[in-house]
Amino acid sequence: MATDPKDYILGTSDEEIQRLGYQHQVWSDSVLPLWKKAGFNVGQEILDLGCGPGFASRDLANLVGPKGKIFAVDASEKFIHFLNQQLKTSAIKNISTQVSDVHALDLPSNRVDGVFARWVMCFVKNPEKVISEAVRVLRPGGSLVIMDYFNYLSVNIFPNRESFTKLFRAYHESLLDHGGTYDIGQFLPQMICENTMEIVSLQPISRIARPGTKIWKWLILFTESHMPKLIEEGYMSRSDRETFLRDWRKASNDPGAFFYPPPIIGIVARKPSP
Ligand SMILES: C[S@@+](CC[C@H](N)C(=O)[O-])C[C@H]1O[C@@H](n2cnc3c(N)ncnc32)[C@H](O)[C@@H]1O
Repeated sequence: MATDPKDYILGTSDEEIQRLGYQHQVWSDSVLPLWKKAGFNVGQEILDLGCGPGFASRDLANLVGPKGKIFAVDASEKFIHFLNQQLKTSAIKNISTQVSDVHALDLPSNRVDGVFARWVMCFVKNPEKVISEAVRVLRPGGSLVIMDYFNYLSVNIFPNRESFTKLFRAYHESLLDHGGTYDIGQFLPQMICENTMEIVSLQPISRIARPGTKIWKWLILFTESHMPKLIEEGYMSRSDRETFLRDWRKASNDPGAFFYPPPIIGIVARKPSP
Protein backbone atom coordinates (compact mmCIF):
# COMPACT_ATOMS: atom_id res chain seq x y z
CA MET A 1 0.00 0.00 0.00
CA ALA A 2 1.34 3.43 -0.91
CA THR A 3 1.76 5.56 2.19
CA ASP A 4 3.96 8.21 3.61
CA PRO A 5 4.49 6.82 7.09
CA LYS A 6 3.16 9.66 9.24
CA ASP A 7 4.19 7.70 12.28
CA TYR A 8 7.78 7.30 11.01
CA ILE A 9 9.31 9.31 13.79
CA LEU A 10 12.19 10.96 11.93
CA GLY A 11 10.00 12.26 9.10
CA THR A 12 10.67 12.41 5.35
CA SER A 13 11.70 16.04 4.81
CA ASP A 14 14.38 17.15 2.33
CA GLU A 15 16.57 17.84 5.35
CA GLU A 16 16.12 14.22 6.50
CA ILE A 17 17.09 12.95 3.02
CA GLN A 18 20.27 15.01 3.23
CA ARG A 19 20.96 13.78 6.74
CA LEU A 20 20.51 10.14 5.68
CA GLY A 21 22.96 10.73 2.82
CA TYR A 22 25.54 12.10 5.23
CA GLN A 23 24.87 9.28 7.70
CA HIS A 24 25.42 6.77 4.89
CA GLN A 25 28.84 8.27 4.13
CA VAL A 26 29.85 8.22 7.80
CA TRP A 27 28.92 4.58 8.41
CA SER A 28 29.41 2.90 5.02
CA ASP A 29 32.82 1.45 5.87
CA SER A 30 31.10 -0.59 8.61
CA VAL A 31 28.65 -2.05 6.09
CA LEU A 32 31.08 -3.53 3.57
CA PRO A 33 32.57 -6.20 5.90
CA LEU A 34 29.02 -7.36 6.74
CA TRP A 35 28.07 -7.66 3.07
CA LYS A 36 31.29 -9.57 2.46
CA LYS A 37 30.66 -11.96 5.35
CA ALA A 38 27.12 -12.53 4.03
CA GLY A 39 28.52 -13.45 0.60
CA PHE A 40 26.70 -10.61 -1.23
CA ASN A 41 28.18 -10.82 -4.71
CA VAL A 42 27.99 -10.18 -8.44
CA GLY A 43 24.82 -11.44 -10.15
CA GLN A 44 22.73 -11.73 -6.98
CA GLU A 45 19.29 -10.34 -6.17
CA ILE A 46 19.20 -8.41 -2.90
CA LEU A 47 16.36 -6.73 -1.06
CA ASP A 48 17.17 -3.40 0.64
CA LEU A 49 14.41 -3.51 3.26
CA GLY A 50 13.34 -0.04 4.42
CA CYS A 51 15.79 1.48 1.92
CA GLY A 52 14.89 5.13 2.64
CA PRO A 53 16.20 7.40 -0.15
CA GLY A 54 18.29 4.46 -1.39
CA PHE A 55 21.89 5.41 -0.63
CA ALA A 56 22.82 1.82 0.30
CA SER A 57 20.61 0.45 -2.53
CA ARG A 58 22.87 2.22 -5.04
CA ASP A 59 26.03 0.77 -3.46
CA LEU A 60 24.39 -2.68 -3.50
CA ALA A 61 23.47 -2.19 -7.18
CA ASN A 62 27.12 -1.54 -7.99
CA LEU A 63 28.15 -4.56 -5.94
CA VAL A 64 25.83 -7.05 -7.73
CA GLY A 65 26.51 -5.48 -11.15
CA PRO A 66 24.23 -5.35 -14.20
CA LYS A 67 23.42 -9.07 -14.03
CA GLY A 68 22.16 -8.72 -10.47
CA LYS A 69 19.16 -6.83 -9.14
CA ILE A 70 18.22 -4.77 -6.10
CA PHE A 71 14.70 -4.52 -4.74
CA ALA A 72 14.51 -1.20 -2.89
CA VAL A 73 11.44 -1.17 -0.64
CA ASP A 74 10.24 1.59 1.68
CA ALA A 75 6.93 2.85 3.03
CA SER A 76 7.74 6.45 2.15
CA GLU A 77 6.52 7.61 -1.27
CA LYS A 78 8.75 10.65 -0.93
CA PHE A 79 11.94 8.63 -0.35
CA ILE A 80 11.13 6.25 -3.23
CA HIS A 81 10.33 9.22 -5.49
CA PHE A 82 13.73 10.73 -4.59
CA LEU A 83 15.46 7.44 -5.47
CA ASN A 84 13.55 7.13 -8.76
CA GLN A 85 14.59 10.68 -9.70
CA GLN A 86 18.25 9.87 -8.92
CA LEU A 87 18.06 6.70 -11.02
CA LYS A 88 16.76 8.61 -14.07
CA THR A 89 20.15 10.29 -14.51
CA SER A 90 22.28 7.42 -13.25
CA ALA A 91 24.10 4.62 -15.03
CA ILE A 92 22.52 2.23 -12.50
CA LYS A 93 19.67 0.33 -14.18
CA ASN A 94 19.27 -2.65 -11.87
CA ILE A 95 17.19 -1.25 -9.02
CA SER A 96 13.49 -2.03 -8.80
CA THR A 97 11.75 0.34 -6.37
CA GLN A 98 8.56 -0.32 -4.45
CA VAL A 99 6.48 1.71 -1.99
CA SER A 100 5.43 -0.91 0.51
CA ASP A 101 5.20 -1.70 4.21
CA VAL A 102 7.91 -4.15 5.23
CA HIS A 103 5.43 -6.02 7.45
CA ALA A 104 3.86 -7.45 4.25
CA LEU A 105 6.36 -7.64 1.41
CA ASP A 106 5.09 -7.81 -2.14
CA LEU A 107 7.74 -10.35 -3.20
CA PRO A 108 7.48 -14.11 -3.78
CA SER A 109 8.81 -16.58 -1.20
CA ASN A 110 12.33 -18.02 -1.60
CA ARG A 111 13.21 -15.33 -4.16
CA VAL A 112 16.20 -13.21 -3.12
CA ASP A 113 19.81 -14.11 -2.34
CA GLY A 114 20.13 -11.49 0.36
CA VAL A 115 18.22 -9.05 2.56
CA PHE A 116 19.78 -5.91 4.01
CA ALA A 117 18.07 -3.86 6.74
CA ARG A 118 19.87 -0.91 8.26
CA TRP A 119 18.30 1.35 10.92
CA VAL A 120 14.84 0.03 10.10
CA MET A 121 14.07 -2.64 12.68
CA CYS A 122 14.23 -0.07 15.50
CA PHE A 123 11.29 1.82 13.94
CA VAL A 124 8.87 -0.97 12.99
CA LYS A 125 5.82 -1.79 15.11
CA ASN A 126 6.14 -5.58 14.82
CA PRO A 127 9.79 -6.61 14.35
CA GLU A 128 8.97 -10.35 14.63
CA LYS A 129 6.65 -10.05 11.62
CA VAL A 130 9.24 -8.10 9.62
CA ILE A 131 11.90 -10.74 10.34
CA SER A 132 9.53 -13.53 9.29
CA GLU A 133 8.80 -11.66 6.04
CA ALA A 134 12.53 -11.19 5.37
CA VAL A 135 13.11 -14.91 5.97
CA ARG A 136 10.15 -15.84 3.75
CA VAL A 137 11.51 -13.97 0.72
CA LEU A 138 15.07 -15.28 1.18
CA ARG A 139 16.01 -18.36 -0.82
CA PRO A 140 17.48 -21.28 1.16
CA GLY A 141 21.18 -20.52 1.59
CA GLY A 142 20.52 -16.77 1.32
CA SER A 143 21.76 -14.25 3.89
CA LEU A 144 20.19 -11.62 6.07
CA VAL A 145 22.29 -8.62 7.14
CA ILE A 146 21.03 -6.21 9.80
CA MET A 147 22.66 -3.11 11.26
CA ASP A 148 20.78 -1.50 14.11
CA TYR A 149 21.11 0.12 17.51
CA PHE A 150 21.36 -1.67 20.83
CA ASN A 151 22.15 -0.54 24.38
CA TYR A 152 21.27 2.99 23.25
CA LEU A 153 21.62 4.70 26.61
CA SER A 154 25.31 3.80 26.85
CA VAL A 155 25.76 6.85 24.60
CA ASN A 156 27.76 9.59 26.34
CA ILE A 157 30.08 12.54 26.03
CA PHE A 158 33.30 13.03 27.98
CA PRO A 159 33.83 15.20 29.97
CA ASN A 160 30.31 14.16 30.90
CA ARG A 161 27.43 16.63 30.45
CA GLU A 162 23.97 16.15 31.90
CA SER A 163 22.41 17.86 28.84
CA PHE A 164 23.59 14.98 26.60
CA THR A 165 22.20 12.31 28.90
CA LYS A 166 18.87 14.19 28.98
CA LEU A 167 18.71 14.51 25.21
CA PHE A 168 19.41 10.84 24.46
CA ARG A 169 16.94 9.75 27.16
CA ALA A 170 14.37 11.90 25.37
CA TYR A 171 15.10 10.21 22.01
CA HIS A 172 14.88 6.79 23.65
CA GLU A 173 11.55 7.50 25.38
CA SER A 174 9.98 9.15 22.37
CA LEU A 175 10.70 6.15 20.12
CA LEU A 176 9.33 3.76 22.77
CA ASP A 177 6.14 5.82 22.84
CA HIS A 178 5.94 5.60 19.02
CA GLY A 179 6.09 1.80 19.15
CA GLY A 180 9.77 1.23 18.29
CA THR A 181 12.97 0.91 20.30
CA TYR A 182 16.58 1.99 19.84
CA ASP A 183 17.49 -1.14 21.86
CA ILE A 184 16.11 -3.45 19.14
CA GLY A 185 19.53 -5.05 18.52
CA GLN A 186 19.29 -6.78 21.90
CA PHE A 187 16.27 -8.77 20.74
CA LEU A 188 17.00 -9.44 17.07
CA PRO A 189 19.33 -12.47 17.37
CA GLN A 190 16.63 -14.35 19.31
CA MET A 191 13.94 -13.40 16.79
CA ILE A 192 16.19 -14.50 13.93
CA CYS A 193 16.87 -17.91 15.54
CA GLU A 194 13.15 -18.38 16.20
CA ASN A 195 12.70 -18.15 12.41
CA THR A 196 15.01 -21.16 11.93
CA MET A 197 17.86 -19.01 10.66
CA GLU A 198 21.50 -19.70 11.57
CA ILE A 199 23.48 -16.80 13.00
CA VAL A 200 26.77 -16.46 11.12
CA SER A 201 28.13 -13.54 13.15
CA LEU A 202 27.20 -10.86 15.66
CA GLN A 203 29.52 -7.93 16.03
CA PRO A 204 29.49 -4.61 17.81
CA ILE A 205 30.05 -1.54 15.66
CA SER A 206 31.16 1.25 17.94
CA ARG A 207 33.22 4.37 17.40
CA ILE A 208 34.68 7.29 19.28
CA ALA A 209 33.84 10.70 17.81
CA ARG A 210 36.22 13.63 18.33
CA PRO A 211 35.55 17.29 17.56
CA GLY A 212 36.01 18.15 13.91
CA THR A 213 35.45 14.60 12.60
CA LYS A 214 32.68 13.47 10.24
CA ILE A 215 31.00 11.48 12.95
CA TRP A 216 31.00 14.53 15.25
CA LYS A 217 29.15 16.47 12.55
CA TRP A 218 26.76 13.51 12.07
CA LEU A 219 25.71 13.79 15.71
CA ILE A 220 24.89 17.50 15.51
CA LEU A 221 22.98 17.03 12.22
CA PHE A 222 20.83 14.39 13.91
CA THR A 223 20.22 16.36 17.07
CA GLU A 224 19.56 19.72 15.38
CA SER A 225 17.01 18.30 12.97
CA HIS A 226 15.11 16.21 15.52
CA MET A 227 15.17 18.30 18.71
CA PRO A 228 12.24 20.53 17.59
CA LYS A 229 9.94 17.48 17.49
CA LEU A 230 11.09 16.36 20.94
CA ILE A 231 10.26 19.84 22.27
CA GLU A 232 6.90 19.91 20.48
CA GLU A 233 5.97 16.52 21.96
CA GLY A 234 7.12 17.48 25.47
CA TYR A 235 10.15 15.16 25.80
CA MET A 236 12.46 18.11 26.46
CA SER A 237 12.17 21.87 26.96
CA ARG A 238 13.53 24.80 24.97
CA SER A 239 15.95 25.52 27.79
CA ASP A 240 17.22 21.86 27.64
CA ARG A 241 17.96 22.52 23.96
CA GLU A 242 19.82 25.76 24.73
CA THR A 243 21.89 24.01 27.41
CA PHE A 244 22.67 21.14 25.05
CA LEU A 245 23.79 23.50 22.27
CA ARG A 246 25.94 25.52 24.69
CA ASP A 247 27.59 22.32 25.99
CA TRP A 248 28.01 21.11 22.41
CA ARG A 249 29.83 24.31 21.39
CA LYS A 250 32.11 24.01 24.42
CA ALA A 251 32.90 20.37 23.65
CA SER A 252 33.50 21.22 19.96
CA ASN A 253 36.32 23.55 21.04
CA ASP A 254 37.85 21.09 23.50
CA PRO A 255 40.45 18.86 21.79
CA GLY A 256 40.24 16.45 24.74
CA ALA A 257 36.47 15.94 24.44
CA PHE A 258 35.00 12.82 22.85
CA PHE A 259 31.60 11.36 22.19
CA TYR A 260 30.61 7.70 22.34
CA PRO A 261 27.76 7.25 19.80
CA PRO A 262 24.98 4.73 20.38
CA PRO A 263 26.46 1.30 19.67
CA ILE A 264 25.25 -0.70 16.69
CA ILE A 265 25.04 -4.45 16.28
CA GLY A 266 25.98 -5.97 12.92
CA ILE A 267 24.15 -9.26 12.33
CA VAL A 268 24.76 -11.78 9.56
CA ALA A 269 22.45 -14.81 9.45
CA ARG A 270 21.81 -17.55 6.89
CA LYS A 271 18.65 -19.39 5.86
CA PRO A 272 19.53 -23.06 6.02
CA SER A 273 19.28 -25.14 2.84
CA PRO A 274 16.87 -28.06 3.24
C1 LIG B 1 16.59 5.76 9.35
S1 LIG B 1 15.83 5.38 7.84
C2 LIG B 1 17.02 4.23 7.18
C3 LIG B 1 17.00 4.17 5.68
C4 LIG B 1 18.04 3.26 5.06
N1 LIG B 1 17.86 1.89 5.45
C5 LIG B 1 19.45 3.72 5.39
O1 LIG B 1 20.20 2.95 5.99
O2 LIG B 1 19.81 4.85 5.01
C6 LIG B 1 14.49 4.32 8.29
C7 LIG B 1 13.59 3.95 7.12
O3 LIG B 1 12.67 2.94 7.52
C8 LIG B 1 11.47 3.18 6.81
N2 LIG B 1 10.38 2.48 7.48
C9 LIG B 1 10.02 2.59 8.77
N3 LIG B 1 8.94 1.78 9.02
C10 LIG B 1 8.67 1.15 7.85
C11 LIG B 1 7.70 0.19 7.45
N4 LIG B 1 6.82 -0.30 8.32
N5 LIG B 1 7.70 -0.25 6.17
C12 LIG B 1 8.60 0.24 5.28
N6 LIG B 1 9.55 1.15 5.60
C13 LIG B 1 9.59 1.60 6.86
C14 LIG B 1 11.32 4.69 6.81
O4 LIG B 1 10.40 5.14 5.84
C15 LIG B 1 12.76 5.10 6.58
O5 LIG B 1 13.02 5.24 5.22
